[in-house]
Order: sequence, then structure tokens, then C-alpha cells
Amino acid sequence: MTRPSALFIVFEGGDGAGKSTQVHLLADALRAAEYAVTVTRQPGGTALGRSIRDLVLHGDHVSARAEALLFAADKAHHVDQLIRPALQAGEMVICDRYTDSSVAYQGAGRALGADEVQSLQMWAVADLVPDLTVIVDISPAEGRRRRGDTHDRLEAEEDAFHAAIRAHFLAMAAAYPQRYLVVDGMAPAEHIHEAVCARLGTLGVHLT
Ligand code: TYD
Repeated sequence: MTRPSALFIVFEGGDGAGKSTQVHLLADALRAAEYAVTVTRQPGGTALGRSIRDLVLHGDHVSARAEALLFAADKAHHVDQLIRPALQAGEMVICDRYTDSSVAYQGAGRALGADEVQSLQMWAVADLVPDLTVIVDISPAEGRRRRGDTHDRLEAEEDAFHAAIRAHFLAMAAAYPQRYLVVDGMAPAEHIHEAVCARLGTLGVHLT
């Protein structure tokens, strides 16, 4: 298999799952293998995204549909301004959260309907689907324990909300196994990283 230059890799999971650690381990491994890498996150990877992030995560109450539209606006701008250009320039793009977060949090968590939110998200990102989505899976109780006393507006929701989100991520992975990898968020970070590297090997990206 020829070595791919540009892949779009996303990490998803509940709050406190340890995604950010994995994002950085993978970025370091790809750079060590001399890939050009862009690391970004949603919401918040652009100036507009950071404003939206403040509104939805740290502001007052936001109506459920308005919340879904704000997350979609962040993605539309982010994909157009940052993710697609980086992929077109031949870079690896690693994104902390993407459309599945919205389908899980707004669609399943807020009960807006997964299908409707999925359509809204796909319109926003003009159908850009990741090459690989890694779900870092932890239970709502473990997520709450790891977050301790600091919660943003969404993290402060009760365990049933987080259980619905987890169920949605796992259902997506079960439906599209060729595009998803589920890793146990309770495993040591190095083990999770090795599982991610092994999976990228099947896509022609060989990391040590
Ligand atoms: P963040 O601080 O980035 O959390 P984490 O470090 O766990 O990724 O906060 C992002 C929050 O926004 C998180 O609770 C998930 C939520 N979210 C949505 O509800 N919809 C979305 O489309 C996205 C991208 C995130």
C-alpha cells in the first residue's frame, strides 16, 4: 500500500475520556514519521469557533435547537477555513470532536433526533466524512469522577444524558466498523495509542 499523505482522523468520546492525550500522542507519532500534521478541535478551532465555544459552553441557557445550529455553524466555518485546506495541502488532520459529537450530544442527549441533527451536520460540513474516527469509551460515572468539580454547561448534565451519548457513539461504531475504532478509555494511554497506531497501519500509515 502506498503511504497516504492526507487523512482526516477524529477522536470522539464522553467528557473526560482522555481524547486530548490521544490527540497529542498521535500528532507526535505522525510528526516523528515526518508527516505534516494539523491538530484542531471543535468547537473552537478558529476565531469564530472560539466565540461560538464561549457562547455555547460558558454562557447562559441556550435553547436546544439554537445549540444544535451554533455547533453546526462552528463546523461549517472550521471545515471550510481550516480542515479542507489542510487536507488539500496534503496534511494529516487530527480533530478533537466532530459531527458525531453533535449527533450524540444534540441529537441523542437533547433528544432533537439523531437523523435530523446528522443531516444538519452533513450539510454544514459539505459531506466531509473522517477516514477514521476513534471512540475513546468510558462510562458516565468514570467521566464524572475524572472531571471532578469543574463542569461546563454540557458536562453538568446528569448521567442519563451522558449514557445516551455513549450509546450513540457505540452504535455509530457498530454500524460502520470500517470507519471507526472503539478503544477502552480505562486502558493506559500508551495501550490506547498503540491500538490507534495499529489501526492506522491498515490505512498504510506505519508508526512505531
Ligand atoms: P470540550 O471542553 O472541548 O470538551 P472535551 O475536552 O471533553 O472535548 O467541550 C466540548 C463540549 O461540547 C463537550 O461537552 C461536547 C460538546 N459538543 C457538543 O455538544 N456538540 C458538538 O457538536 C461538539 C463538537 C461538542
